[in-house]
Amino acid sequence: MAATSLTTTALENPEPAQFAIRKALRADAEAAWDIRRAAVMSECAGAYSSDQLEQWTGGTASRAFADAVEERLLVATFGDHVAGTGMIDLATGKIDAIFVHPAYMKRGIGAAMMRYLESLARSEGLRELKLDSTLNAAPFYRALGFRGDEIAPFQSPRGLIMDCVPMTKRLSV
Ligand SMILES: CC(C)(COP(=O)(O)OP(=O)(O)OC[C@H]1O[C@@H](n2cnc3c(N)ncnc32)[C@H](O)[C@@H]1OP(=O)(O)O)[C@@H](O)C(=O)NCCC(=O)NCCS
Repeated sequence: MAATSLTTTALENPEPAQFAIRKALRADAEAAWDIRRAAVMSECAGAYSSDQLEQWTGGTASRAFADAVEERLLVATFGDHVAGTGMIDLATGKIDAIFVHPAYMKRGIGAAMMRYLESLARSEGLRELKLDSTLNAAPFYRALGFRGDEIAPFQSPRGLIMDCVPMTKRLSV
């Protein structure tokens, strides 16, 4: 199933908390862009240079970014506010765009998004999840069952080369 078919799926809140997870709308693109930048600037500063962070998150949301949001992003909402983002390619099991706004960090939203993406993968019969973790977030993913310790260069869609940790998680049947 392509991730885009989520647009027609009723997404239920998997958590008994005050937040919910739903398919993003194009109108969420600005919020998603701001969350990405705020999360990176808050949490990745010790792991990457300020030049790298600026190259990674600077500028404004492009049309291509809005297209990707509309096509395949999921958002975690807290009341009326978009608090976090995440996406999965259900053809490959690749997880991306895991960002939580600093105002909402450490409330379980990142972990809930990961569990939700994992449940989508399981329902598609996928056997493995993969992602490229920022250096700062690798312990977060390890706590969720991902494995991987090697640091490897990762090329972002904008062409930025940055050190990341390729990680995988086997999904039992
Ligand atoms: C990584 C991130 C998504 C975590 O989101 P979050 O909503 O704050 O995480 P949660 O509250 O769900 O935390 C789940 C668990 O992971 C732990 N955790 C969260 N961030 C962590 C980190 N950077 N290092 C180690 N543990 C972390 C929490 O303490 C919690 O553990 P607990 O269940 O034992 O209390 C968020 O910090 C973020 O957006 N970081 C910046 C962007 C980034 O690097 N994203 C990853 C891109 S690959």
